[in-house]
Amino acid sequence: MSETPNRLVTAVILVAAGSGQRLGYGMPKAAVPLGGEPLLTHALRGVVASGISSQVCVALPAGDDGLRRLCEDFREELADGGPVLTIVDGGATRADSVRAGIAVLMEGIEAVLVHDAARALTPESVFHRVADALAAGAAAVIPAIPVVDTVKTVAATTGQDSALAPEIVTGTAPREELRAVQTPQGFQLSTLLKAHEASRALDEKQSAAVTDDAMLVEMVGTQVFAVRGSTQSLKITTPLDLILAEGLLEGPLGTRWVEG
Ligand code: C5P
Repeated sequence: MSETPNRLVTAVILVAAGSGQRLGYGMPKAAVPLGGEPLLTHALRGVVASGISSQVCVALPAGDDGLRRLCEDFREELADGGPVLTIVDGGATRADSVRAGIAVLMEGIEAVLVHDAARALTPESVFHRVADALAAGAAAVIPAIPVVDTVKTVAATTGQDSALAPEIVTGTAPREELRAVQTPQGFQLSTLLKAHEASRALDEKQSAAVTDDAMLVEMVGTQVFAVRGSTQSLKITTPLDLILAEGLLEGPLGTRWVEG
C-alpha cells in the first residue's frame, strides 16, 4: 500500500458492560483477572498504546463501583497528552452499550472504533490497520481472520428424525469465503450514527440477532471492508479462552510470539 494517509480524529468506544456469565467467575467479565490484572486494564492499555484515539469511552456495568474506580485510577495514570477517558453506564445489550458510548462522544470526533473489552490482547497493529483504512476513505472496516473449521448450517430435527439426532445439516458454507470477525470495528462517525439510528426500527427478535456494529451498517446498505485481524485478538468468553490468554501472557511462547 502507498503512504499512510492522515488519521481521522478518532474515539474508541470500549464496551465492557457484559455480565461474563459464560466465564463462570461470578463477576463482570471486565473484572476477571488475567495475569494478575483485570481484563479491563489489559484492554485499556492496548487501546491507549495504539495511540489512535483522542477519546476512549468505556461502557461499564451500571453501578459497578469497582470497575469505575479502576477506570478513574487509569485516567490518573494517563500521561499528559493521552486520550480523554469518559466513563458511561452500559445498557442491557451490547448495542445499547455502544449507543451509551456514542451519546458521550466529544465534539470534533470524525471516526469511531468500537472495541470489545473481552478482546483484551488485541495487538496495536490491528488498531492501526483499521484506522488506516478509515483514513483512506472506507466508511466501515472490520478486522477478520480466515476460518479454519468447515462451517455448516443446521436446523432442529423434527418428526422421525428427532429420534436420530437433535439437529440436521442444511448446508455447507464455502470456507474460502468465510471470515471470523473481530473488533475493533471502525466507522466514519456519520456511518455509525446512521446505522444505530436505523436499528431503532428493528423488533426484539431482530435486535437480538445483531451481534456486531458492522451488521447494522450492512443493513443500511453501506459497504463494509475487511482488514487482517489477529489470532491474539481472541474474545475471552469461556474458561478455555482464559487459559489461552494466560498462555499468551506468561506461557512458554510468552513475548517471543507477537503476531503482527
Ligand atoms: O456478550 P458478548 O460476549 O458478545 O460481549 C462482547 C462485548 O460486549 C464484551 O466486551 C462485553 O463486555 C460487551 N457488552 C456490553 N454490554 C452488554 C453486553 C456485552 O458492553 N450489555
